[in-house]
Amino acid sequence: MTDERLNSWLASVSVLPDVGRIGVFNAWPELDLPGVEMERVRAVQPMAGPHKALVERGFNTAKVVNYRYDAVILRLPRQKALALAYLKDAVRRIPDNAPIIVDGQKTDGIESFLKLCRKRFDVREVVSKAHGKLFWFEKAGLEEDVMKVLDLPEMTPRETSSGFCTAPGVFSADGPDAASVFLAEHLPVLRGCVVDLGAGWGYLSRRILEKSQPDALHLVEADYLAVQCAEKNVTDDVAVFHWDDALSWKPERAVDHVVMNPPFHQGRAVDARLGQDFIRAAARLLEPKGSLWLVANRHLPYETVLEDTFRSVQPLAQTPSFKLFHATSPKRSRKG
Ligand SMILES: C[S@@+](CC[C@H](N)C(=O)[O-])C[C@H]1O[C@@H](n2cnc3c(N)ncnc32)[C@H](O)[C@@H]1O
Repeated sequence: MTDERLNSWLASVSVLPDVGRIGVFNAWPELDLPGVEMERVRAVQPMAGPHKALVERGFNTAKVVNYRYDAVILRLPRQKALALAYLKDAVRRIPDNAPIIVDGQKTDGIESFLKLCRKRFDVREVVSKAHGKLFWFEKAGLEEDVMKVLDLPEMTPRETSSGFCTAPGVFSADGPDAASVFLAEHLPVLRGCVVDLGAGWGYLSRRILEKSQPDALHLVEADYLAVQCAEKNVTDDVAVFHWDDALSWKPERAVDHVVMNPPFHQGRAVDARLGQDFIRAAARLLEPKGSLWLVANRHLPYETVLEDTFRSVQPLAQTPSFKLFHATSPKRSRKG
């Protein structure tokens, strides 16, 4: 576990400076640094759920790296491009001789990240524990070390060869996802108020607006980097962007359509429960006669939840990889 490895090591060394701001990149909800006053910590977390948990615990937070720090702790994210972008930001935003501490699980790629860091920096210490590693290095020469990271990705929306803006680590960063393309091809004209739930960088919304002119199109997405990209990809006036958790987001009034290609991973593991929770969330958002338009990988078990939450469930189309559903009229539980 991150905390166990990091905290026992921090308690046994004096690598962090006694004063100044500590940036914790990809901060986690249980963050607690022994011997470091909370006011000195700036917790950077672009995902709405964990970000909110950190705010509730009283941390100073940021959605993106936008300060200068006197030391950085980077918890390795699963997405390599995002990890590299964090590394670039860390090196650029600390003074000479300041430490960068990296902590991560083997399953998130800490071993190859260590190799990459060894090629560029003088890694001082490596601690292996609890299926992961922690290592640290100092920024040795201001200009020299900045030069070593210039080729790494930027943590900002960039236009890709697909013509869309994406950012490191966002879902399907190289271009449209095949499942979303399949869903977009089968969507009819959508009227009224439409929600793109888990909107990512806005592909489905862009395609909806090619065919339909809804009264409002709400893009709900937890990843702030993806929301920033969506704002560039979807410029129609009816679009409203919500950096929020799809499972708790509430519109002002019930909506006519929900369109989604829901997430089905928690970390690296496939976890169909997240997609199933998205289906329940969609049902709660919809008008009594509202429609859900859903694409999923063929192996994902969504049928039972669909039948439990909607009065009518129609398979729309399928390929060897994907299946599409149109579900209408959500069943209302008395609890709402
Ligand atoms: C399979 S992707 C689909 C993205 C986009 N709709 C598309 O078709 O390209 C699922 C998206 O849901 C987002 N997501 C995951 N958990 C979320 C949550 N609890 N609330 C809102 N969005 C979430 C992910 O960041 C990701 O962008």
